[in-house]
Amino acid sequence: MKLAERMSRLGTETAFEVLARAGELEKEGRDIIHLEIGQPDFRTPDYIIDAAYKAMKDGFTGYGPSAGLPQARERYAQYLNDTRGTDYKASEIVITPGAKPILFFSILALVNEGDEVICPNPGFPIYESVTEFVGATAVPSPLREDREFRLDPAELASLVTEKTKLIIINSPHNPTGSMLTMEDLEAIAEVAIKHNVMVLSDEPYSKMVYDGEFHSIAEVDGMRDLTILLEGFSKTYAMTGWRLGYAAMRQDLADQIAKLQTNSNSCTASFIQMAGIAAYDGPQGESDAMMKSFQERRDIMVDGLNTLPGVSCLSPAGAFYVFPNVTGTGIDSRELAKRCLEEAGVAVLSGTAFGKYGDGYLRLSSANSVENINEAIERLRKLLGG
Ligand SMILES: Cc1ncc(COP(=O)(O)O)c(C=O)c1O
Repeated sequence: MKLAERMSRLGTETAFEVLARAGELEKEGRDIIHLEIGQPDFRTPDYIIDAAYKAMKDGFTGYGPSAGLPQARERYAQYLNDTRGTDYKASEIVITPGAKPILFFSILALVNEGDEVICPNPGFPIYESVTEFVGATAVPSPLREDREFRLDPAELASLVTEKTKLIIINSPHNPTGSMLTMEDLEAIAEVAIKHNVMVLSDEPYSKMVYDGEFHSIAEVDGMRDLTILLEGFSKTYAMTGWRLGYAAMRQDLADQIAKLQTNSNSCTASFIQMAGIAAYDGPQGESDAMMKSFQERRDIMVDGLNTLPGVSCLSPAGAFYVFPNVTGTGIDSRELAKRCLEEAGVAVLSGTAFGKYGDGYLRLSSANSVENINEAIERLRKLLGG
């Protein structure tokens, strides 16, 4: 078999590889603490599950329109408008199986071979992978610890060329947990507007905010029609396996993205879109409690990591990841991530899984019990000889 040449340019997510290796060790009888995967360790709230059952019984089991059911597009637009102060219409929403296809479709729709896409680095690996897949170049926009891992707008401005087709931002951020301030967003918007470049704003962690206030670049004057605003249900409502996400964007682009959906998934499962409406309409207490518990665990994890020799860790403003600097251990971060798993039984990711500017860091997910987090810290202390 001879694969198409483009397949050699498609990357993957290291988290899934580490999860597989951890699974092998567990089969051998090893006890592994999982801090590698970005998945809430809670069940989906029952009222959302009940709404999905009801929708199935009510007949939402057939194909629906590619862009999404009208009532779901309406409700999700309203959610964005309520939380961001935007004025999206239902017709500007496209609903997809998870937020991830929006990344794929947006890059397919906007980026030609030879173009450039500016991607946060470290950053969600799919941005770079899909950019390279379409024959474009992923230009890293470095996120540095001395700016609390917030993109530097002045540096961003220096990266824009006539080939730049898309700027990707992600706040709160995977893997560092950083959150862009309104000032940052205004400065990024200035660059986008000056060069007339679209911004894909990946915002699935918008509810996981612990310090400061969340803002979207779509709120900034002049950005409405230059923004693709990505949201989802995976993280806010512990719905990773349901696959439900969506984006808001100008009408003409929404029509094109819907066409890509017609050519791939056809549509998102109708009863799941209905469950998404229920998620927004129903009581938010359970989701709020999940977010509060992520904050408590973040604090425990950051405090614990800062007691380890050679490790220093900023307290992230949002999301459920921490990104400790491990250069003081004298161990390469790839090697250290491997030893954490193989020797200490703690599955973590090397910062390099998110790009070259992740070198010298680990990524740990705080979506685990307090007991497991404390145990993981003690195992790492033993590994590092503290
Ligand atoms: C930054 C970021 N964007 C998008 C996604 C995709 O989320 P989903 O496809 O589950 O909605 C994730 C998931 O981990 C993420 O971390």
